Amino acid sequence: MRGSKVRTAIFPVAGLGTRFLPATKATPKELLPVIDRPLIQYAIDEARDAGIERMVFVNHPSKGAIQDYVLQNRTLSALLRERGKSSDAAMLETLALDREEDAVFAEQAEPLGLGHAVLCARPFVLDGPVAVILPDDLIIGQQGCLSEMIAAYDATTNGHLVAVMQVRPNEVSRYGILSVTGREGAMETANGMVEKPAPDVAPSRTAVVGRYVLDPSIFDALETQAPGAGGEIQLTDAIARGIASVGLAGFHFSGKRFDCGTKAGMLAATLRLASQRDEFSNVLDAFIAEARSPAREPVPAE
Ligand code: UTP
Repeated sequence: MRGSKVRTAIFPVAGLGTRFLPATKATPKELLPVIDRPLIQYAIDEARDAGIERMVFVNHPSKGAIQDYVLQNRTLSALLRERGKSSDAAMLETLALDREEDAVFAEQAEPLGLGHAVLCARPFVLDGPVAVILPDDLIIGQQGCLSEMIAAYDATTNGHLVAVMQVRPNEVSRYGILSVTGREGAMETANGMVEKPAPDVAPSRTAVVGRYVLDPSIFDALETQAPGAGGEIQLTDAIARGIASVGLAGFHFSGKRFDCGTKAGMLAATLRLASQRDEFSNVLDAFIAEARSPAREPVPAE
């Protein structure tokens, strides 16, 4: 994917993670593991796979563990090698990023909203459109979601492109929903976007999830963006304001998205990935057999 217009990915990781308390009291949500890898690692791998040159992590000062995880730890590598664990050292070195070359840390001193977090990355982005990845939206599939989106963006689109999926009518109020004007293949054009509408007024069931490729005009829009829902500076509000000038499209990615900012989503993602690895088949088979067994203790009625 070399030569893409999209060279930078922004990772907003400065949020409070309140939906996952108490786990997130001392461990950032983005470091919670799905099996053996933290959420942030899946996001980094997806950006790498999409050919991203610079990754900008927008972090809160209290979440320094994210930086410790993302960057190389040469002391740990040396220690592992000394103890004969060279393959572990090599694995960590392959996963980690090198400061300045490809990873930059920006600070969001207060979690004022996703839009504000993206704005904090502005001084560090390379020329051209930027990708935004929310690490708590884990997308599992044959091809990386960002890679698919950037290929589509480079081929056909300018302006703003957002990852979308169809949701059920009773779910629209949890998402940004597009006002769809047309569809061609995986792309839907839109002339509006409504944040968390009630089901009876939702313009469609096309919901925005945590991958974006945004025209650089997004930063000027964010500079002047007033607080919206929840008193936060919303990224969707700034995207919506740019529709008239740069346009908006939704991209239906091929993978399956898991909302790992919630306990149920994290559990579902863990089961999905476990089911793809032979080493866990015994555990899963035993659990399923036990759950189906007639000898199981009946659950007492409430
Ligand atoms: P979420 O709204 O899912 O994360 O934002 P949150 O606010 O941490 O979680 P809850 O709602 O309290 O449980 C999606 C992503 O945007 C980041 C979060 O860290 C997460 O990765 N974010 C959110 C910021 O970086 N800054 C913010 O002000 C808000």
